[in-house]
Amino acid sequence: MIGFMGAGKSSVGQALGELLGWPFEDLDARIELREGRKVPEIFRDSGEAAFRWAEQAALRELLGEFGDGTRRILALGGGAFAQRQNARLIAGSGVPSVFLDADVMELWQRCVEQAEQDGIERPLLGSLENFRKLYAARRPHYLKASFRQPTGGKTVKQIAAEVAQALGLKRSRTKRRKEKRREKRRGEKR
Ligand code: S3P
Repeated sequence: MIGFMGAGKSSVGQALGELLGWPFEDLDARIELREGRKVPEIFRDSGEAAFRWAEQAALRELLGEFGDGTRRILALGGGAFAQRQNARLIAGSGVPSVFLDADVMELWQRCVEQAEQDGIERPLLGSLENFRKLYAARRPHYLKASFRQPTGGKTVKQIAAEVAQALGLKRSRTKRRKEKRREKRRGEKR
C-alpha cells in the first residue's frame, strides 16, 4: 500500500489483510521496532536523512520476508515509495504496489483531524502550502505503482474489497479450510 500521508494505507491494508486472511505489516512500525524509537523521535533527534536510511533497511528486511511464501500486506509510509531506491527494491521483488489515490485537501483534512483527535504526530505535516508542494512532488512517483486505487467517497472496507478484486486476490486457503471446519463443527452441534 503506497500513497501520501492520510491516504489510509494502514487502515485499508489492515482491512485487506482481514478480508484475505493475510498478515498485515506496517513499515513505520518495523522501523520503530528496529530503532527502538518512534518515527517523530527519529526525525527530531537524527533528521530525515537518518530516517530514510532506517526506512530503506526496514523495507529490505520486510521484502526479504516475502520470500518465505507467506502472503502479506505491507503499508509503507508516505515518503517511502518516492525514494527511487525503494521503488526499485519493490519493483524488483515482484510484489505489486497499490497507490491509494485521494484528493490533496481530503488528505490534509484527515491528517489535521488525526493530529487533533488522536494525537497522531506527522513530522512532515507542516503548513498546507508545504503539504501541497510535497504532494505535487510525490504524485508522479506514486503513479508508477502497479495499480492505482481511487478512494474518494468510499469506506475502508469498500476500498479493500476493490483492491482484492482488481488484483485477483483470494482469501488464503488455510483460512478457508479452517473456516469450513468451524462451520462443519457448528453444524454437527446443532
Ligand atoms: C512520512 C510519512 C509517515 C512516516 C514519516 C514520513 C512522509 O507515514 O513514514 O513521518 O515522508 O510522508 P504516513 O504516510 O503513514 O503518515
